[in-house]
Amino acid sequence: MMKKIAPSILSADFSRLGEEIRAVEKAGADWIHIDVMDGHFVPNITIGPPVVASLRKATTLPFDVHLMIETPDKYIKAFADAGSDVITVHAEAAVHLHRTVGFIREAGAKAGVTINPATPLVTIEPILPDCDLLLLMSVNPGFGGQKFIRSSLEKIREARKLIDRIAPAVLLEVDGGVTLDNIQSIAGAGADVMVAGAAVFGSGDYTETIKVMKEKIRG
Ligand code: DX5
Ligand code: ZN
Repeated sequence: MMKKIAPSILSADFSRLGEEIRAVEKAGADWIHIDVMDGHFVPNITIGPPVVASLRKATTLPFDVHLMIETPDKYIKAFADAGSDVITVHAEAAVHLHRTVGFIREAGAKAGVTINPATPLVTIEPILPDCDLLLLMSVNPGFGGQKFIRSSLEKIREARKLIDRIAPAVLLEVDGGVTLDNIQSIAGAGADVMVAGAAVFGSGDYTETIKVMKEKIRG
């Protein structure tokens, strides 16, 4: 499987989101990563289902929707109906994570689970075979443009081993502080999908940035 780049629109120009998505699609992005924040689970508020629904018209690329919200069960159907392809929930926010993952699949989306840097991998081990994607946070969620937490590399290696052993169909995604300088080690540690916000949208040339990223992750 080819490794993927998922630009996070959190660092895009919010007054021109549709154009920004079309620009990264043209530049070679594989997925569009959409960060949903509620001001409770994380100290920031971003976008909701109506925005996802209107952006759906801008591209055919998969929407990778990262819910950084409390009580995710309440909003899963709305995000699925808005056109999300993958919906990822935080293990720290879902009280009955197995049930939540079931809701995502029933709503017609692929089910992702994610854990914060301080949450150990064993937390998600029991439900990994019932998921489509594991997202490892390599920053504390809430803001774009933060520094990659070094210890995440070892966690990525461990997650790769765990997936290969018990749930080989699950994709491993990494989110937070991914740059041109570290993307090669992140892919080398076993990540399949690399989220990049500031590194893509903060660069002057999306096409060149994504091209160089893809060369570095080719393996
Ligand atoms: C962090 C978000 C990330 C963020 C990544 O809370 O979940 O997706 O946008 O941005 P960068 O790549 O700038 O760290
Ligand atoms: Zn994210």
